[in-house]
Amino acid sequence: MKVAFAGLGVMGFPMAGHLARAGHEMAVFNRSPQKAERWVGAHGGRAGPSVAAAADGAQMLILCVGNDDDARGVVSQALPALAPGAVIVDHTTTSARVAREMAALAAESGRAFVDAPVSGGQAGAENGQLTIMCGGDQAAYDRAAAVIGAYAKAVRRMGEAGAGQLTKMVNQICIAGLVQGLSEALHFARRAGLDPDEVYEAVSKGAAQSWQMDNRWKTMAEGRFDFGFAVDWMRKDLGLVLEEAQANGARLDVTALVDGFYAEVQAMGGNRWDTSSLVARLERP
Ligand SMILES: NC(=O)c1ccc[n+]([C@@H]2O[C@H](COP(=O)([O-])OP(=O)(O)OC[C@H]3O[C@@H](n4cnc5c(N)ncnc54)[C@H](OP(=O)(O)O)[C@@H]3O)[C@@H](O)[C@H]2O)c1
Repeated sequence: MKVAFAGLGVMGFPMAGHLARAGHEMAVFNRSPQKAERWVGAHGGRAGPSVAAAADGAQMLILCVGNDDDARGVVSQALPALAPGAVIVDHTTTSARVAREMAALAAESGRAFVDAPVSGGQAGAENGQLTIMCGGDQAAYDRAAAVIGAYAKAVRRMGEAGAGQLTKMVNQICIAGLVQGLSEALHFARRAGLDPDEVYEAVSKGAAQSWQMDNRWKTMAEGRFDFGFAVDWMRKDLGLVLEEAQANGARLDVTALVDGFYAEVQAMGGNRWDTSSLVARLERP
């Protein structure tokens, strides 16, 4: 298939690579052109000088850019250049409102839109093991799933446009409270004079087990945060969550509190630190 891919960052670069390996005819675009040149050097295909040039005649446009405004910009510029009937798949974490807006825009021009935020981080993108939560009509979803399955261990349609983004918000609500709990547990263990490694061995096989515990406890104990999912991204996501909660009336007491804790981590200089850096806030002198 003729696929255009916009946004070759931490996530998009390896995702687009999986599509090239799957045999699709790729055209890529990135805001800073060096990444697109580096991608073409590694995977072949062509780099467009603009989104519209990359999208020209493509049957599918996939994007993984930063936020609502980035996604809106890419979709509006690409839309007229895409092949009639093309499907747009957006992996950016955005608001559900923007997803619905872009679905309507795509439908007006005879194309389709699927919001498809991901979970699984950089490692998931590189290993082709992402979880993808989708919103859009069934026919567009079916076409998208056949392609994006190249880098996913699970792809699921959650409902109409916006439903993928709402599901991603649920994912972030789960993580926010859990990482704060894990941080407090580690902080408490230290104050109680326990050895963090021993504590991990004792509690990680029982009801306290989690992905975060298995993958972050050790690095949290070492005070290492220079990797993973950045606090800035988490704050963007929690902003979307809290805005949506205001609209639907959900009470997110802990999530709102943790969002404020992340603001404190940013003030400590932790903008690019992994989300597990909540523990650094507890342990600062
Ligand atoms: N990183 C994770 O673990 C993770 C996990 C799940 C979901 N996400 C979500 O996935 C999205 C991307 O995350 P990421 O970590 O890959 O971020 P990133 O490394 O900052 O990548 C974003 C890429 O999009 C490009 N871009 C931004 N606006 C653009 C535009 N208008 N046109 C073309 N390219 C544009 C940026 O170009 P420049 O080179 O010019 O900056 C950058 O290369 C975000 O919405 C994030 O919340 C990330």
